Amino acid sequence: MLAPRTLPLFLAALAALPALGAETVPLASLDLAHMRQGWGRPQVNRSIRETPLSVGGKRFAHGVGTHAASVLWIELDGKAERFLASAGLDDAAGSPAGSVDFTIIGDGRKLWQSGVMRQGDAAKEVDVDLRGVRTLLLMVGDAGDGIAYDHGDWCEARFIVAGARPAAIAAPREDAVILTPPPPRTPRINGARIFGVRPGSPFLFTIPATGDRPMTFAADNLPAGLALDPATGFITGSLARKGTYAVACRARNALGAAERTLTIVCGDTLALTPHMGWNSWYVWENHVTDTIMRDAADAMVASGMINHGYMYVNIDDCWSVKPGSPDAALGGEPRDARGMINSNARFPDMKALTDYIHSKGLKAGTYTSPGPLTCAGFAAAYQHEELDVRRYVEWGFDFLKYDWCSYGGVAKDGGTAELQKPYRLISAILARQPRDIVLNLCQYGMGNVWEWGKEVGGQSWRTAGDLGGSFEGIGAALFRDGFDVYARNELHKFGGPGGWNDPDYLLIGYLSNWRGQTVPTPLTPNEQYTHMSLWCILAAPLIFSGDITRADAFTLNILCNDEVIAVDQDPLGKPGRRAAKNDDAEVWVRELEDGARAVGLFNRGEFETVVAAAWSDIGLEGPQVVRDLWRQKDLGRFTGKFSAPVPRHGVVFVKLAAAK
Ligand code: GLA
Repeated sequence: MLAPRTLPLFLAALAALPALGAETVPLASLDLAHMRQGWGRPQVNRSIRETPLSVGGKRFAHGVGTHAASVLWIELDGKAERFLASAGLDDAAGSPAGSVDFTIIGDGRKLWQSGVMRQGDAAKEVDVDLRGVRTLLLMVGDAGDGIAYDHGDWCEARFIVAGARPAAIAAPREDAVILTPPPPRTPRINGARIFGVRPGSPFLFTIPATGDRPMTFAADNLPAGLALDPATGFITGSLARKGTYAVACRARNALGAAERTLTIVCGDTLALTPHMGWNSWYVWENHVTDTIMRDAADAMVASGMINHGYMYVNIDDCWSVKPGSPDAALGGEPRDARGMINSNARFPDMKALTDYIHSKGLKAGTYTSPGPLTCAGFAAAYQHEELDVRRYVEWGFDFLKYDWCSYGGVAKDGGTAELQKPYRLISAILARQPRDIVLNLCQYGMGNVWEWGKEVGGQSWRTAGDLGGSFEGIGAALFRDGFDVYARNELHKFGGPGGWNDPDYLLIGYLSNWRGQTVPTPLTPNEQYTHMSLWCILAAPLIFSGDITRADAFTLNILCNDEVIAVDQDPLGKPGRRAAKNDDAEVWVRELEDGARAVGLFNRGEFETVVAAAWSDIGLEGPQVVRDLWRQKDLGRFTGKFSAPVPRHGVVFVKLAAAK
């Protein structure tokens, strides 16, 4: 007989024993294709660097090597008993910058957390009771400082199960729900309300208007030098003198009329609101051609994107000659006898191409690098900067993305002066041209570019690496390069009219998976709403880089909600900031010109949660009228706070205006 005092202990010990017939199932035997991670692919019995698993100097023969941010969903039948592992940061990560945190969630409850772990820390022992659990999540987070060197290992990870084997599953599927009502059939003028141009430069601005066609346009107070085409809404010409002109733009169709003021500022500053447009890189990469660019311009019009303010049609890398390429379409002489850069055979006539784009009321962009070669190995501008800019002017380009890439071999060191040098050089040349060319700095945030991007002449600067550098990692990159980079560096202090932080393109619709296929974005529908909402709060350029000729109704709904775009294009030009963070719930706020606030309630977690925006966090007082921007619907009057349930990786995006 057991003494009554020892009975509970005995029963507890008994419960902890595996049931008779229990089986051990290694984590590494599950279908790891379902594991989502921020970089690379999950590794069986080795680290992400493909070395033997090793944590805190101790080797492990079995387990899974992954990379933050990593999530694996696992289905259990309630009869799994335990999950055992030794978790830690792999020794091969090779940098003190690495830091991870492991979390295990069962049926929405946190079952285990490692806390922050760094290189050299001994692995932490995991022994989690799984009885009754049906959905398990194994997560490796970046410990809040970005994913660099975050090589997390689940060593000797295994399940003890009495019933079915655990099965790795995809994250729950979401339906792509279109939240935004179609624009009214009556005319409505959308997009930027303020536009900058330099004296003497060719002017082109298309009045973006939704509503039934045919539609006619008119404008009052157009300054001398500009003319409006009533049939197309294109305003062209040039302004001789500096000045600010309030132009009353009007649009009319059979059903009604609309009017809105466009402020034209003729001065030294371009890009008074963030650029809107399309770029070829993430869908066409090194296959881009003249035909593709013309089709993109056509699609910008046919899809209606032009009616919401999208303006630039930009070629990325791979239009120049690729020195030494055996491919006749890419090879040849990089420059002509005068030293002027040549386009490759896929672009037989650049001037004809930009003429075509301009004839649609759109603007044309190009790309190069300050080094001898572009990132993809094509001829670039080094030691030909003056000639190349002259060529872009001759060809009629309106936008230049200036990448870094091979300039790494030219720069003497990584100091700020060397980082700035090529951008100072090119912007000084651009400033002398009789044409406005917007300059986008693409150097991935080096040397805190946001602190000096505007000073060296950039109208925008990339704030991080390539958002879609790893196709599978786009979801993780969205949270890392969007939320974390912006909050950590307080980037709201830097962007503004004339110079914008650029977290990279809108990666939705059909994208290249870098393995020769064009496939739908890996972002879930809610992640796509999050992507667009955050970009608008950040005052980021809105450059779509999916296949514009195949943008479906859901993709266009993400890109073309005019109330959402109005936040991005708000003339005050004040980027938003993170106002509150409570675990996975984040509240971001952007102050608008009319005194209202755009507020994003975001949920970075794996399960729906209620997110609350408190007036005290977002700088408001008194009753507010809350409007749901995605649904374009008023939600009512609220006092003190607004809260709403937010789905996994999703957002509720609202505008708060003081109640009258
Ligand atoms: C870099 C840039 C990308 C793209 C490619 C082209 O990676 O960051 O946006 O321009 O180069 O090669």
